[in-house]
Amino acid sequence: MKSLLPLRAVLVTGKGGVGKTTVAASLARFAAQCGKRVLVAEIADEDATTSALADALGVAKITDEPWEIAPNLRVVALAPALGHQRFLRDVLPMKVLADAAMRAGAIRRFLAAAPTFPEMGVLYRLLDLVRTKRRDGAVEHEMIIVDLPATGHALALAQIPASLLRVIPSGPIAAAVREGLELLQDPVRTGAVVVTLPETLPVSEALELVQGIEQHSIPLAQVFLNRVPFDPFSDEERVFVRSLLDGERPPMLGARTLERIDRARVALERLSQAVSVPVGVLQDVWLEGPRLAEEMASLMAVEEVHQ
Ligand SMILES: Nc1ncnc2c1ncn2[C@@H]1O[C@H](COP(=O)(O)OP(=O)(O)OP(=O)(O)O)[C@@H](O)[C@H]1O
Ligand SMILES: [Mg+2]
Repeated sequence: MKSLLPLRAVLVTGKGGVGKTTVAASLARFAAQCGKRVLVAEIADEDATTSALADALGVAKITDEPWEIAPNLRVVALAPALGHQRFLRDVLPMKVLADAAMRAGAIRRFLAAAPTFPEMGVLYRLLDLVRTKRRDGAVEHEMIIVDLPATGHALALAQIPASLLRVIPSGPIAAAVREGLELLQDPVRTGAVVVTLPETLPVSEALELVQGIEQHSIPLAQVFLNRVPFDPFSDEERVFVRSLLDGERPPMLGARTLERIDRARVALERLSQAVSVPVGVLQDVWLEGPRLAEEMASLMAVEEVHQ
């Protein structure tokens, strides 16, 4: 976890349902408790009536502008339209012009509809928040953790600037796009975090995702094996328990759990062999709602002390 703390942007990604939102919320709470000024973000979805991140943090809603929900901890929804507006402000000669352009329905619809532009808006909004300074000149958000909605998204964020640059290689738009891409690919400032589950197929999928991330030159910072079952046995105890269960019919209570523990051990071994970054183990916790992320954040803190 410690290796993540110096990063400016942490992109949390992984397959559906593996725990991306939970991990983003837990990491945010943990980093805020470590004293970082943290902003945790989700991609705004105008049609959505609920927000998984809001639920995980125990807040009613998440808005387009950051607001503080705990000491050192703010939340925001990254809205493409705001990114477009900042983008136009940066590339057009005058603020008035940019605002007028955004008010023009045709331009707004164009920016929302062209397939690459919503992502570009998200990326530019992220860049904007990374650059935001306090009055004393220090950065406003030391660490921005982004809960990405689906596996492809982190890659889409990187693909878009690259394809845009091929079409518009120079000028102010290209310069702005290039800055976004530079942030995304800078291992000092940015790190992707891949979340997965301790089972065979999810691990295979995570390894594919890791490959995709590396191909797009997005720096991989950490892999989290989430929902790992509590494992009370030493190696010898395990052999002994297995010998008790072998040949037992019908299966004894707990035999299934033991198999799940075994699969988790295999998953961890496989992941650790295959990736060059740290693999963090996150326990399966018997909680839900906001208490889950709070508990996971304190487990992260305990781990930190023991390392
Ligand atoms: N470590 C954990 N212990 C117990 N439950 C967990 C843990 N991590 C996640 N969960 C539960 O698993 C479910 C899925 O988690 P979460 O919503 O974070 O996944 P996600 O990857 O963000 O999903 P989506 O792809 O839909 O955005 C939730 O009900 C959450 O409470
Ligand atoms: Mg989610």
